[in-house]
Amino acid sequence: MTGSFQAAANPSIVQTQAARVQGRAHVLVIGNEKGGSGKSTTALHIAVALMGDGSRVATLDLDARQGTLGRYLENRTAYAARKGLDLPMPIHAAVPLSTLSDRMAAEADEKARFEAALGPALAAADFVIVDTPGSDTYLSRTAHVWADTLLTPLNDSFIDLDLLARIDPETLKIVRPSIYAEAVWKQRQLRAIQGGRPVDWVVMRNRLSSLAARNKRDMGTVIEALAKRIGFRVAAGLSERVIYKELFLSGLTLLDLKRGSGGPSLTLSHIAARQEVRDLVAALNLPPATAAAPEAAPVTEPATPARPPAG
Ligand SMILES: Nc1ncnc2c1ncn2[C@@H]1O[C@H](COP(=O)(O)OP(=O)(O)OP(=O)(O)O)[C@@H](O)[C@H]1O
Ligand SMILES: [Mg+2]
Repeated sequence: MTGSFQAAANPSIVQTQAARVQGRAHVLVIGNEKGGSGKSTTALHIAVALMGDGSRVATLDLDARQGTLGRYLENRTAYAARKGLDLPMPIHAAVPLSTLSDRMAAEADEKARFEAALGPALAAADFVIVDTPGSDTYLSRTAHVWADTLLTPLNDSFIDLDLLARIDPETLKIVRPSIYAEAVWKQRQLRAIQGGRPVDWVVMRNRLSSLAARNKRDMGTVIEALAKRIGFRVAAGLSERVIYKELFLSGLTLLDLKRGSGGPSLTLSHIAARQEVRDLVAALNLPPATAAAPEAAPVTEPATPARPPAG
């Protein structure tokens, strides 16, 4: 046999950018099975940053029961109405878990729900940002297979790192990848089998201490080693700042503060924080928005993505 065989790309090889699949939005999934790592906060900040650059953004909330992202956006709508502001808003949909009791039927139901929400978003936006719950659900796994870029926010703590890898406490060597890393590996394989391009997996450190503490240094060392071992890139993270908690009630992000949208007055700390968000978006290295994108056509029927994410 001559030259017809081509080995499949190793899905765990570190990417530097996930190229845009022509004709549809780029899917950015924010995922980490660990709760409270900053997924919803990061999702909205990235959405507003991209909209600020003129991109059309859709957001999907797969944590509909908690509904943090949806509540954040409700607060944003109410704030804009109260203050007479024109704040950029993503096209938003929540995808609830199935209520069916049979597991197989529930999974089929959730897949159908996800694809029914994703289809119109893929057609109408340049970027679809999917916020996932801090737990392992079939819905979340389905979304991970669709991720062109996967962003995993990680609190700067060995407790949070434990979901990515078991670490030897004496030597800080990686003993083995653990549950979330294994889940991503499976989803990468599934995506490769289905003909999708390899995902660009980016891990960002969140709630970084301003102190040069030993924990921060050790986390940095271990994450860099882990990146090579399980195939992700590390993005500059976000510092621990109380402003992230304060902004929720107004639905604003740090990026809106610069637009003079009222809210908390801008301090030097906020300016530094805003720069961190911008650096994070730059580090994601997302493909440019579709050139000369036409006005989003009204979707009259669900453009259900019947096929897996080929591209
Ligand atoms: N950089 C930060 N500095 C300070 N607080 C932060 C930061 N990032 C997130 N938080 C706070 O941490 C908490 C958890 O954030 P968030 O809800 O975004 O996490 P999550 O990963 O979406 O959680 P869940 O897994 O429950 O969905 C919130 O109170 C949020 O305001
Ligand atoms: Mg959340």
